[in-house]
Amino acid sequence: MDAATVRPAQSDLEQAFRRDVLGGLSRGRKAIPARWFYDRAGSELFERITALPEYYPTRTEIGILRVCAPDVARRAGEGRVVIEFGAGSATKTPLLLDRIDARAYVPIDISGAFLRDSCRTLAERFPALQIFPVEADFMHPVCLPAKVPGDHRLGFFPGSTIGNMEHEPAIGLLRAMRETLGDDGMLLIGMDRIKDPLVLEQAYDDSAGVTAQFNLNLIRRINRELDGTMPVDAFRHKAVWNAPCARIEMYLEARRDINFEVSGQHFTMDAGETIHTENSHKYDEASAGRILRAGGWEPVETYGDADGLFMVILARAASGQEG
Ligand code: TRP
Repeated sequence: MDAATVRPAQSDLEQAFRRDVLGGLSRGRKAIPARWFYDRAGSELFERITALPEYYPTRTEIGILRVCAPDVARRAGEGRVVIEFGAGSATKTPLLLDRIDARAYVPIDISGAFLRDSCRTLAERFPALQIFPVEADFMHPVCLPAKVPGDHRLGFFPGSTIGNMEHEPAIGLLRAMRETLGDDGMLLIGMDRIKDPLVLEQAYDDSAGVTAQFNLNLIRRINRELDGTMPVDAFRHKAVWNAPCARIEMYLEARRDINFEVSGQHFTMDAGETIHTENSHKYDEASAGRILRAGGWEPVETYGDADGLFMVILARAASGQEG
């Protein structure tokens, strides 16, 4: 593995967390950005979600990647610099790196501890590969280490993470990726499909309660890092399908009237009031194509599973997208 991880100062992150939480709790409709789920505990809980029987996306996407990787390798060509956005535990990465003759691998993730662990594992498996881990929030433009070759890049954005963003920011992110990946850049992106709402709701509210714990961990994190007094047991996890917006919405709902403090600021919530914590947009081929094109990408190939649950799309940088 190469040198040290590039990381922002701890206090910057903490300030951003405080700003987002205080701002989000002060709104009429309370909401906290989902990026704050992923502290160490949250990242580990998320790993457990991906193994749940109800949570089909991870294993379905892995199955698709196994089958499509050789075709992706053929279309992408040799010597690509693979840049993974939100690498997490990087469990899907080997499926790609096994097939693609990559020149370097750049995993970007907001959780530094998690990133370093997964890089160690990858470095053992691919000893010849240059790895440049970057600890950053890829939702904002990311400054890559100067050592990373500037062309022939392939972005890897699995997990339907794009679906966790609102429409406009998602397009903004795709444009930023287009910028980062360059004129000859390609992007391999996972997108979850619209399907039976019951299947969707169960995927986000499993019987073992792991997704509930994942959602509630945000409250624990606020209490720990921002001097919060939020009563964890007074909140309930809720997942609902919003058909017009084609998305699953996750909430923390107050079971009773409560009041609490965060960073010395006082808040009240009525019974039944919610904090919106996550959206997970779902797509069909048409809506996937629209959002990709709006973000400066031209779909090249769509790979899917036999049950039509999930899709992995290979796209190339569209030309004439400047400005
Ligand atoms: N992007 C994935 C999805 O929307 C993973 C994910 C993000 C997720 N946030 C989540 C899964 C919250 C469960 C709960 O499915």
